[in-house]
Amino acid sequence: MEPLLSLRISAGYPGRPAVLQDVALDLEAGGTLGLVGQSGSGKSTLALAILRLLHLKGGRTEGRIQFAGRDLTECGEREMRRLRGREIGLVLQSASSSLNPALRIGTQLREAWRAHADSAWEKPFELLQSVGLHADDAFLRRLPGEISVGQAQRVLIAMAVLHRPSLLIADEPTSALDLITQAEVLRLLAALNRERNMATLFISHDLLSIASYCRRVAILHEGRIVECGETGRIFSQPAHPYTRRLVEALPRIPLAASSLNLATLAARLEEDLAQRAAADVVHPQAE
Ligand SMILES: Nc1ncnc2c1ncn2[C@@H]1O[C@H](COP(=O)(O)OP(=O)(O)OP(=O)(O)O)[C@@H](O)[C@H]1O
Ligand SMILES: [Mg+2]
Repeated sequence: MEPLLSLRISAGYPGRPAVLQDVALDLEAGGTLGLVGQSGSGKSTLALAILRLLHLKGGRTEGRIQFAGRDLTECGEREMRRLRGREIGLVLQSASSSLNPALRIGTQLREAWRAHADSAWEKPFELLQSVGLHADDAFLRRLPGEISVGQAQRVLIAMAVLHRPSLLIADEPTSALDLITQAEVLRLLAALNRERNMATLFISHDLLSIASYCRRVAILHEGRIVECGETGRIFSQPAHPYTRRLVEALPRIPLAASSLNLATLAARLEEDLAQRAAADVVHPQAE
């Protein structure tokens, strides 16, 4: 079967023309793909390129982006507008700055609904509950400044999945959160992926977060995908020196354990995340 998303692109900016060099990725329907790379490696550039938004930052994309049977590089702007938010959801890292500070949460949810609505607006109590928010009227009346960063991130996730997209692009959705909230948001994304069969491209510089629920992972380094494959395999047998360095930098993940399967690995990572979260509570300043 054809993958839901299949791309091969190069992208860059004036003065930085080769940020992404012939980057190829495939993501099957309902699949989870993690994209890891250090700061500045081009992860957000890739996310914006897929949504054909790179020109807003003065960037250029070349190549093909096959999504659900069409090539996005050939779609007109009107079709892209229909597709963004409806078939492809996007969650960005900076939750607070992604919400309009002057509009109530309920109003912003309603506007996100109206952007693609086929039916009348109903307060999305169930949706908000599914992202772990107290979905009462008092909450919907609040302004972004009156909720926490973790709550704002959940609101953004709710908005991104409101129209049940078949693909969610999550660009460092947990980086601004404390470790406990991070783990909760990861669990939430995993549940949405499972229950809605929503494919997820999860972008992060944190291999540990990615490993806790992505079935496959791609490593972006110096503008190229240096390694891509099943998460357990990448952890147990990293082939590229950069991946090896990343994996070796992780706490207590034995490199030599080539028999390590993904379930064991995930359990260990979960344990590790919980311990790190506990340490975060005890030493909130330490990092
Ligand atoms: N508008 C722009 N004009 C020129 N160069 C840019 C522009 N935006 C980003 N870049 C450069 O492109 C490279 C990739 O940026 P990008 O934001 O995609 O990195 P990233 O992997 O998402 O990093 P981070 O983990 O910090 O979010 C960086 O070197 C950055 O400086
Ligand atoms: Mg980025």
